[in-house]
Amino acid sequence: MKRACVIGWPISHSRSPIIHGHWLERYGIDGQYTKEAVKPEEAAAFLRGLAENGFAGCNVTVPHKETAFAAGEVIEPSARAVGAANTVWLEGSRLHVANTDTYGFMTHLAATVPDWRAFDAPVVVLGAGGAARAIVFGFLEAGVGRIVVANRTRARADDLVRHFGPHVVAVDWDKRTQAARHASVVVNTTTIGMKGEGSLDIDFARADHRTVVADIVYVPLETELLAVARSHGLRTLDGLGMLLHQAVPGFEKWFGVRPEVTDELRSLLVDDIEASR
Ligand code: ATR
Repeated sequence: MKRACVIGWPISHSRSPIIHGHWLERYGIDGQYTKEAVKPEEAAAFLRGLAENGFAGCNVTVPHKETAFAAGEVIEPSARAVGAANTVWLEGSRLHVANTDTYGFMTHLAATVPDWRAFDAPVVVLGAGGAARAIVFGFLEAGVGRIVVANRTRARADDLVRHFGPHVVAVDWDKRTQAARHASVVVNTTTIGMKGEGSLDIDFARADHRTVVADIVYVPLETELLAVARSHGLRTLDGLGMLLHQAVPGFEKWFGVRPEVTDELRSLLVDDIEASR
């Protein structure tokens, strides 16, 4: 039997087992995907011992993503861009590490709003943590010429700009509404709005009607940001799609089948999110 897992500390909240469990059943694979609570000081050893413990690989969540990156013997470009890995697999005895948030976000965007590029304007990214880096990298790979990053702590936005180069610029946090007025896509990568807490306080009243507004927060499914954007007639993208799509590459590596993100799978997650509120 092939085995994979998700490691984190704590780990009880992870929804990854619902996704991978659904695919294992759907494709009739003799496999198992479990949650493993791994303490920070034990994460590196756990990753080194994957094969010995019968795992084909794993997902990695907070706080082990940097440890996984450092443990990688073959580092995919996505992980290098972010400096953190969320997906690990063995090829032979070598540990490969990737960051599939880039793939997850960009695939969800292309699937939901295929013409997102039709409006030639900058992309605005709110936040400057790991998720922001994954998404900035995705837009750069897609050939976007100007990405504007606004973050509460300006120094972190400046670090991100230095890391990615001339197509990325930083603006102060209090310029976010102004930046969002002329944007092809606005993406929230901060934790604001999670479980309904906090407000991004962005006014879309004067935004271009072609702007797409995305959130990576998926509890609640419609965050305040998305509700406000929708009330101004803008197209929106929720965070659940990214969670579902980012799981695809790992499943394929571990179990040998490229799984599909379906409405049925999405409904399972929506039900779980509703039940947890
Ligand atoms: P991740 O790596 O998962 O993206 P992170 O590194 O903790 O997470 O980043 C969280 C992001 O949310 C940061 O951009 C953070 O801003 P700071 O760099 O200023 O800390 C942002 N964030 C969290 N709470 C915030 C708040 N109340 N107001 C504005 N930004 C906030």
